[in-house]
Amino acid sequence: MRSTGGLVFARRERSVGLVVMACCFVLSACDPPGKPGAPEVSSENITDFKILYGQNCSGCHGDEGKEAPGRQLNNPLYLKLIPKDELRHVIEYGRPGTQMPAWARSQGGPLTDKQITALVDGIEREWGKPFNPPANAPIPAYAATGNPGDVNHGKRLFARSCFMCHGKGAPVGPVTDPYYLSLVSDQYLRTSIIAGRSDLGMPDYRILNLGKPLSDSDVNDLVAYLVSLRPATAVSSGAHTVENGPGGGQITKGNEGSGNGPGSPEQRPSEGPKFDSGQSQSGGTVQGKSK
Ligand code: HEC
Ligand code: HEC
Repeated sequence: MRSTGGLVFARRERSVGLVVMACCFVLSACDPPGKPGAPEVSSENITDFKILYGQNCSGCHGDEGKEAPGRQLNNPLYLKLIPKDELRHVIEYGRPGTQMPAWARSQGGPLTDKQITALVDGIEREWGKPFNPPANAPIPAYAATGNPGDVNHGKRLFARSCFMCHGKGAPVGPVTDPYYLSLVSDQYLRTSIIAGRSDLGMPDYRILNLGKPLSDSDVNDLVAYLVSLRPATAVSSGAHTVENGPGGGQITKGNEGSGNGPGSPEQRPSEGPKFDSGQSQSGGTVQGKSK
């Protein structure tokens, strides 16, 4: 791991900023540019990536796709991680239960198919440089597989690999905070752990395991641990529960972007009520887990 002491301290204000901005969105005290429903939606003749992105996305994802509260899109590892059809899907359908709105007209959003194509192509063209994962560290899958994850193992991994930056009182900000966890989807947590934040100083999966790679199932376990800390009453727990909750039963239209949709690489099995209604899984059953 690179030396991060100063860096992490330097980032403290950022995560505070994130929380403030998140609150701001939640309270609807500010309307981000391009919010669907806002009157000044882009004219459907605009298909220039930079204009479309600037009008609709940069408010949350940053002018250059980085250094903003929303996902860093300007990250070759991230763009290698997310399958192109999934990238399109998230943009079309948004992430129900989070601040990421749906953009496709079919979902009530402002953008045409052509404009969404221009965004997907532009993001990949501008920010998706070739990325070659190390031979000993294949990139974990974008979407979680059927394995519900081992909460206890995730907790141990967190103490080892994340606590130094994200523990209570640690410099970056507690991603274990229940309020924070109620604002983000499981997929967001998963993506953050795999892709890191090269713009803000979070390392990626290649070295997060104390300088060694995190495996796909390590990532599953970390997400399971974080999700176990999310309050059952969280506003957005419905969407999250469906995402990580096979057996939650309510895979509704609009949750497609969560990894349960048609564009997802993998469907989850229909049994395994472990994450139902967002209850704590501390007693976690373990399925096919190697420690
Ligand atoms: C109001 C703020 C906001 C706006 C505007 C916005 N996003 Fe997002 N976006 C978010 C948030 C928050 C998330 C993370 C949601 C979650 O918790 O999964 C997200 C997630 C995403 C993701 C998936 C990240 C992942 O985890 O893999 C993509 C891709 C994305 N946004 C692209 C866009 C594009 C393209 C636009 C413009 C058309 C856009 N967003 C506009 C807030 C926004
Ligand atoms: C070297 C310090 C460091 C380590 C280690 C680290 N992170 Fe991070 N992490 C960061 C920084 C910096 C950010 C960006 C915070 C911000 O938004 O300002 C971040 C962001 C995140 C986010 C997204 C927060 C948001 O919404 O912007 C999540 C989730 C996360 N980290 C989880 C983890 C997990 C889980 C681990 C352990 C596997 C981990 N991190 C290890 C520094 C670290």
